[in-house]
Amino acid sequence: MKRFHVTTFGCQMNEHDSERMKGMLTSLGYSESEQRDEADLILFNTCSIRENADNKFISHLGEAKRLKAENPERIVGVGGCWAQSVKDEVFRRFPFVDVAFGPGQIHRLAEFLNSDQLSAQGYFEFEDFAGHLPDHRARQFQGWLQISQGCNCVCSYCIVPSTRGREQSRDPGELLLEAERLAADGVREITLLGQNVNSYGRDLPKETRIRFSDLLGMVDAVDGIDRVRYTSPHPKDMREEVIEAHATLPSLCEHIHLPLQSGSSPILKKMRRTYTRERYMDRVEMIREKVPDCAITTDIIVGFPGETETDFAQTLEVVEDVGYDSAFTFVYSPRRGTLAADMDDQIAHPVKVERMERLIEAVQRRAKERAQRFVGRSMEVLVEGPSRNDPTRIRGRTRHNKAVNFEGTAEAGQMVEVEISAATSQTLTGTERLLSGIGA
Ligand code: 5AD
Ligand code: SF4
Repeated sequence: MKRFHVTTFGCQMNEHDSERMKGMLTSLGYSESEQRDEADLILFNTCSIRENADNKFISHLGEAKRLKAENPERIVGVGGCWAQSVKDEVFRRFPFVDVAFGPGQIHRLAEFLNSDQLSAQGYFEFEDFAGHLPDHRARQFQGWLQISQGCNCVCSYCIVPSTRGREQSRDPGELLLEAERLAADGVREITLLGQNVNSYGRDLPKETRIRFSDLLGMVDAVDGIDRVRYTSPHPKDMREEVIEAHATLPSLCEHIHLPLQSGSSPILKKMRRTYTRERYMDRVEMIREKVPDCAITTDIIVGFPGETETDFAQTLEVVEDVGYDSAFTFVYSPRRGTLAADMDDQIAHPVKVERMERLIEAVQRRAKERAQRFVGRSMEVLVEGPSRNDPTRIRGRTRHNKAVNFEGTAEAGQMVEVEISAATSQTLTGTERLLSGIGA
């Protein structure tokens, strides 16, 4: 039996795509190898969002080159956003690569493997949703649901619209069937995935068109699904019904990821985000009013071209005002072919680094303060398995998407109540309540 090994870089959409790649390979008769050097088929699912994402991947590719030299029968494949962004250049720069494909062409890998191809092949048109391929879930009780692909936004820093194409929504009937199939297969938590989930449906034909909030209602109603999440929404499309859904739909979790990017309206304009700081804060207020205990998380970029100290101070102000439960922070990195990469007021690296340090300090301090509201409470935790640092303890996640390390006896996939005794900016600590576990 032939064996494959897949290394995944980048976002949750890529994790999803890799699971589908593995599902497809399994149905072709391949099995998964734990070690890259024991595999007949070495695959990389790449990301191109920032420069360091590219660099990380290229060092892995060096090892694939060595393994291919050892055994020329081995096949090396490169999929995902980086592959899409450099297209056929892959073969010129890395002649040992046999097949390269973009995010909309994963199914073509099967065609390549079944043919008698002698030359390198590249597949880069958008053709199909990875979500149509068989899945191979990393965890039995958690599943992705790819609701759309691509992005119609024109954020001036972002490479994704060029790697994943125009936005295309999947048919709601098809999505409902898939959610039901996942539930029947033991999935308790579903994460709806899209580059811009809350613009879901706008491209669907009139007869089947529904809004994102309707889709949330449909998935919530599926028997056996205890938790529904989604990522990522865009603040410009964050409608009141979606926020309300967090208060009314029992399985929709108390967590909203609302990417800020910058707290300065002039920078947001240069970023082409199409909202202002005021409009963003208005969404936050609506969340606080309708779902008071909701966790809010975000993405922030520092050092975007032209960002002054005053602009940056406004980002810090928003961080102080909102009190994010956590935030992903990024140093701006110019991406080939994007508008911002050609702007002439790029920020010097030491300035970016110094701002980043101040940003992280504020984010972590506020996150730690926010997390204290959980201390003394009993929280519902979906168990993921043994704790990473201490195998005598158990790890899981609350509905607010906080990681919890706790003492107890629960098994992966169970839903238990945990008494929270301490909180840092990143994790909660606690003890399982033994008598009132709420079943599994
Ligand atoms: N430089 C730095 N960060 C970026 N992001 C996207 N493009 C860039 C870039 N060129 C960040 C944004 C986005 C997250 C996934 O990555 O914050 O929300
Ligand atoms: Fe990376 Fe963006 Fe592609 Fe995800 S969509 S893999 S974050 S470039």
